[in-house]
Amino acid sequence: MTFHIGTPTSRIDGRAKVTGAAKYAGEYGAPDLVHAAIVGSTIAKGRITDIDISEAMDVDGVITIITHKNRPAMADNDAAYKDDVAPDEGAPFRPLYDDKIMFSDQPIALVLAEDWETARFAAARVRVKYRQEPHVTDVFRQRETAFALVAPAQPRGDATKAFAAADVRHQGEYYVPIEHHNPMEPFATTVQWDNGGKITVYDKTQGVQNVQRYLCSVFNMKPDDVRVMSPFMGGGFGSGLRPQYQVVLAVLGARALKRSVRVVLTRQQMYSLGYRPAMIQKIQLGAKADGTLDAITHDAITVTSQYEDFHRNETTWSGLLYKSETAKYEHKLARLDLPTACDMRAPSATTALYALEAAMDELAVALKMDPVELRLHCYSDRDQITGLPYSSKNLRECYRQGADAFGWSKRNPEPRSMRDGADLVGYGMASGIWEALQVPIAVRIGLTANGHAQISCATSDIGTGTYTIMAQVAADALGLPLDNIDIKLGDSTLPQSPVEGGSWIAASVSNAIVNTSNAVRNELLRLAQTDPNSPLAGVSPDETVLTNGTITSKKDPNRAVSIADAMRHGNVERIEQEKTTEFPNDGKHAHNTHSAIFAEVRVDEQLGVIRVPRIVSAVAAGRILNPKTAHSQVMGGMIWGMGVALLEETLIDHHFGRIMNANIAEYHVPVNADVHDIDVIFVDEQDDIVNPMGIKGLGEIGIVGVAAAIANAVYHATGKRVRDLPITLDKLQS
Ligand code: MOS
Repeated sequence: MTFHIGTPTSRIDGRAKVTGAAKYAGEYGAPDLVHAAIVGSTIAKGRITDIDISEAMDVDGVITIITHKNRPAMADNDAAYKDDVAPDEGAPFRPLYDDKIMFSDQPIALVLAEDWETARFAAARVRVKYRQEPHVTDVFRQRETAFALVAPAQPRGDATKAFAAADVRHQGEYYVPIEHHNPMEPFATTVQWDNGGKITVYDKTQGVQNVQRYLCSVFNMKPDDVRVMSPFMGGGFGSGLRPQYQVVLAVLGARALKRSVRVVLTRQQMYSLGYRPAMIQKIQLGAKADGTLDAITHDAITVTSQYEDFHRNETTWSGLLYKSETAKYEHKLARLDLPTACDMRAPSATTALYALEAAMDELAVALKMDPVELRLHCYSDRDQITGLPYSSKNLRECYRQGADAFGWSKRNPEPRSMRDGADLVGYGMASGIWEALQVPIAVRIGLTANGHAQISCATSDIGTGTYTIMAQVAADALGLPLDNIDIKLGDSTLPQSPVEGGSWIAASVSNAIVNTSNAVRNELLRLAQTDPNSPLAGVSPDETVLTNGTITSKKDPNRAVSIADAMRHGNVERIEQEKTTEFPNDGKHAHNTHSAIFAEVRVDEQLGVIRVPRIVSAVAAGRILNPKTAHSQVMGGMIWGMGVALLEETLIDHHFGRIMNANIAEYHVPVNADVHDIDVIFVDEQDDIVNPMGIKGLGEIGIVGVAAAIANAVYHATGKRVRDLPITLDKLQS
């Protein structure tokens, strides 16, 4: 019997994806499908005073145009629009609800036509008049009016005083601009209308049940009448955690026409949704001459909309990671006339760890201390905020293995001291940290006498490899070949799952599969024992294991009954078990993943062009279920970190309050030519506490800290510290 957990298994959905057999939300059809195009506002703030649709309606093939004036009924209270992931404070955006404009390119009309080209053509002929109001889209203009939310965490000691008294001090202001997710697949929804008024909604989302509940409450529909499907996703990264406006528009269209409707956003419209909030951060670090931290302060201002208060634990990462007598954090929100910000891969940690780890590098320079040495000196085996020990933390080993693989010992600490021809060479490093979360989740297993099992759960696979790890875990837990496992997910009618986010699904669903498999095993044993002469007579469930298509005594492998025989004795051809698995927190441990990142940059001394020939990341994230998909997750995060450091920036023309690079030609992300050696190391980390299988999740840790490692390498190469990202060549030259 071969085991599948821990082996580098190719994606079981890979063939379907590369051959086009896997269908995405905008690819589903329906008889008599209506195509839609969205008209977006050209102003950032104000009221619509008039929408003239006459010219657009005259276009041949246009069926109808929906605006706030003629839309079908929608809920009129804020609570109805609160999805599972909505911020507590504020009122979610309601598309086509009224005449109010709250951000540029806000959807204000939906053109429904017999084909998409006609819809788009007609959309350009909708004439809109506005009463414009002054808008603000520049976070620096709202600095003074930024407001504090709930205190992020209790301060420790008097950090202000400790900082003032410290032997060595560093303070700096760091900036990360707004970034957009830019998944390959645009947001899309196809609503299939059946004549009884039931709808099947193929939606691009990270949470089918979240969308299903949301649609039921917005449109006052019965749960049985709304089925939401998202079997495949072309990248989400957090943008698909909340229902996006296209799903509302598609359902509005279907309800207006009693027909099937498809809405697909244009690439430009992908910038009229949530984003990673810009973050202005001030960090102070005070230390003794030997590198002992006396004080950490971290103040941040991030961005939200006029209508919701979106925030995460922006600054508390700085409090928990390193040993420091005192610490203080402040997090404020600046209101802008933009859509509400949202989660983007490792929300808050990506931005906060950039600032913290760049500041730690600056402190190391001030201390004349090696950056790895400084971090080891401040190493903490406890979450410094809660004081709780980690369930496991092998970051020390990440530093060691990462530094060895990278060749950190060859680094000359002097900036501008390493060269290769016309290039200045720089080595930089940083730490990363993320949470190891887990959520209640249900799994159903149907097992047939021929040894085939179907595993179902309403979770998504947002591209992370969930289908594959679910099959691996099920194959091992049920003692069946991988090919005998069929995974069903991304369907709101399946057993309950929260959104796929926060790196929590792998740990949650894997433990749930094992739990449910145990129930299957117990049922098989019961069936086998209906035969009084069964070799398993008198054996208790805990003494058995499912292996090689049999239920077998652990103590005596000769006492075994095949799945087929057990079912025959019980007179059934199929058994089914469903269980909800919860993860009680013992309240005695902190659960986190960690990483150490080492980056080399080469900077052309004359031109300032920065290249990144190699990055090494050593990751401690508990048990690795599938080294192949895990490697892909971390590699993708590292490449995105390169984007954060050097390329990504949503540019707004503040005069118009409008995003000017709303396309993937002018919004730069790393492409193949930018990416060279990416080395991912998984450090052994056994964790018997976090959950029974010791899994911690990997979707997000890969990006955290990478931008700082690269920025620190740029400083080491050039002697110039650029604190506002991205580090473009103009900033190096000035
Ligand atoms: Mo993730 S940013 O929780 O999809």
